[in-house]
Amino acid sequence: MKHELVIVLDFGGQYNQLIARRVREANVFCEVLPYDTPVEKIVNKNPKGIIFTGGPNVVTEEDAPKVEAKLFETGIPILGICYGCQLMGYILGGKVDKAEQREYGKADLKITKADSKLFAGVNSTTSSWMSHTYFVSSAPKGFEVTATTDTCPVGAMENAEKNLYGVQFHPEVVHTPEGQKMLENFLYQVCGCKADWTMKQIAEEQIEKLKEKIGDKKVLLALSGGVDSSVAGVLLHKAVGKQLTCIFVDHGLMRKNEGDEVESVFKKQFDMNLIRVNAEDRFLGRLAGVTDPETKRKIIGEEFIRVFEEEAKKIGTVDFLAQGTIYPDVIESGTKDAAVIKSHHNVGGLPDHVDFKEIVEPLRDLFKDEVRNLGRELGIPEFLVSRQPFPGPGLAVRVIGEVTKHKLDILRDADLIFREELEKSELKNTIGQYFAVLTNLRSVGVMGDERTYNYTLALRCVDTSDFMTADWTRIPHDILARVSNRIVNEVKEVNRIVYDITSKPPATIEWE
Ligand code: XMP
Repeated sequence: MKHELVIVLDFGGQYNQLIARRVREANVFCEVLPYDTPVEKIVNKNPKGIIFTGGPNVVTEEDAPKVEAKLFETGIPILGICYGCQLMGYILGGKVDKAEQREYGKADLKITKADSKLFAGVNSTTSSWMSHTYFVSSAPKGFEVTATTDTCPVGAMENAEKNLYGVQFHPEVVHTPEGQKMLENFLYQVCGCKADWTMKQIAEEQIEKLKEKIGDKKVLLALSGGVDSSVAGVLLHKAVGKQLTCIFVDHGLMRKNEGDEVESVFKKQFDMNLIRVNAEDRFLGRLAGVTDPETKRKIIGEEFIRVFEEEAKKIGTVDFLAQGTIYPDVIESGTKDAAVIKSHHNVGGLPDHVDFKEIVEPLRDLFKDEVRNLGRELGIPEFLVSRQPFPGPGLAVRVIGEVTKHKLDILRDADLIFREELEKSELKNTIGQYFAVLTNLRSVGVMGDERTYNYTLALRCVDTSDFMTADWTRIPHDILARVSNRIVNEVKEVNRIVYDITSKPPATIEWE
């Protein structure tokens, strides 16, 4: 089945992917395309609607990113957001001016056209999030002003006959509480979308597609137990069963019990063809004496590829190599200087010495939250699908200084206690990532009558949505106290606990 499509035209704003995710949350499939995609190409895709994103440029300047005016004559409904609204206003003959000062923050939006399709079911005064310096000061001919704020004469505008809509604010962010309603109004009422993008359907379709593509051939997947490779693995397994071989390289740098848990889910629950390679000695052998963080990462990346290749060689030629690439890795950026959002410093890359003919990437169209939902649909346990990011080099970047089995074991025990206590609390649904770090520092303590000289353990917990910036979580002191007590009592060789209170930037989330 072909899904209805909405196109998000990217003008380089910071919320571009968020807009696309909101559309998907409304169960409508959408693609993000660069703003200069030719009109013919857009029309050929037969979209039900188009959304122009915001962007950092000034529309009245000559080299500002624009669309051809004929796009407005195609009859395809368009919603312009912020810069996208100014662009629509400007090209169609309205006026765009500079505000006296940059407007950033919440503004009360007064709906002036009660029967606007865009605002159906929305309160007549509602909160909206503004972030702009320029605005449409006078709407083009044929347009009505449908909402205003104290500072914005054209908070929203529309030419309902032509299905053209513009909003100066950002409906996609949570600070516009009725924004999702407005986006859904655009999708369902204006574009006539039917909400045909659901996880159940995606799962069924993907499995069918993979069956067709792979036929009776062989597929190989490096399975780490992270969200993406786990979901890709189960999807492939449901499509081609034992024709799929998963190689799980256990580098000995996982958290407590993690290797066994991963093995158990995929072997016992799903009966998958999984090869677990216990390569702890190899990795620790190569890491012996190494203290420089970049060198550690490099060694682990290289060794990972080597182990994977050796195992793959035993299997012989395969037809397909599967990868858990997801949509944010493949979106072309809209403007050359737009922030390129890439999956963060991943180790490895493609192995050079594995014989395969083609790559399969079953998650290529999906955002991370969709991958998680797909995983739930496929019956993967919650602890795997809701998993936090875990660095490829594992605990090696959380043991400062030389990595040894002894230090890893101390860290694993302490980290488990920290995670257990946070997972019991309500915080666990709101924080982005939490873990313990074994510093290389030892200090004096006292235990009973004896003096000790043991490790200092750091706790790190951050609130973040994109992992590019983060703030340290204000964990209630009684939780910190419980964690601290338990760790110093239960984990030998830790006698001091500190809590990391730096945001990113200037610090990073991981310590190495
Ligand atoms: P930093 O420490 O740079 O980390 O603030 C940002 C996010 O990326 C994760 N991270 C990694 N993820 N391979 C990964 O797949 C890696 O080598 C790696 N290093 C850091 C980190 O846990 C955080 O979520």
